[in-house]
Amino acid sequence: MKILRKSIALAAAILVTLTGYPVRAEENRVQFPPDLGALVHYTTVRRGDVTEHIMTTPDALEAVRKGQPIPDGTHFVLVDYRDSKVYRYFVMQKGKDWGKDYDEDRRTDDWQFQWFWADKSVNMDENTARCQSCHSSRSDSSFLYTFDALGAFDGKVFE
Ligand code: HEC
Repeated sequence: MKILRKSIALAAAILVTLTGYPVRAEENRVQFPPDLGALVHYTTVRRGDVTEHIMTTPDALEAVRKGQPIPDGTHFVLVDYRDSKVYRYFVMQKGKDWGKDYDEDRRTDDWQFQWFWADKSVNMDENTARCQSCHSSRSDSSFLYTFDALGAFDGKVFE
């Protein structure tokens, strides 16, 4: 995996050298969740022709309800549907000391972010610092925008 990461970084560096175009390859520790079906879909956000299903693990749901910290390993997934088809997945994942991968001014506690296309490949053009920058305004709510909806979830998805 390390070698793969290094080769990707090298390939990106070569591309920049050859084309002068900065390829902002962003591999990080976030893994696509092994089983989306095991996650709880707790809220839906609609904007125009985009429908977002937002989900997380039952353990994270319970932790938030009890006012406890969200456990390491937790995934949050935003499934972005366009025309009833999955367009992309936005994923946040937390792991012990993952914050140390980044400088303090970029860090979002131990959360890392990733953009996956519908085929679950990583969007290698994305610089996930953008995700962190926007979500850092939610540092008082575990970096989550839908923290309140999660706490209020009673088994019936908000539409
Ligand atoms: C400009 C601000 C902004 C940027 C940039 C952004 N997000 Fe978000 N994110 C939001 C908002 C607002 C929501 C709540 C859902 C909504 O309103 O669409 C959200 C929701 C989420 C959620 C669901 C959990 C939660 O916080 O409620 C995930 C997962 C997520 N974003 C991941 C990402 C990833 C990955 C990226 C980068 C590829 C990213 N976000 C970039 C604003 C942003």
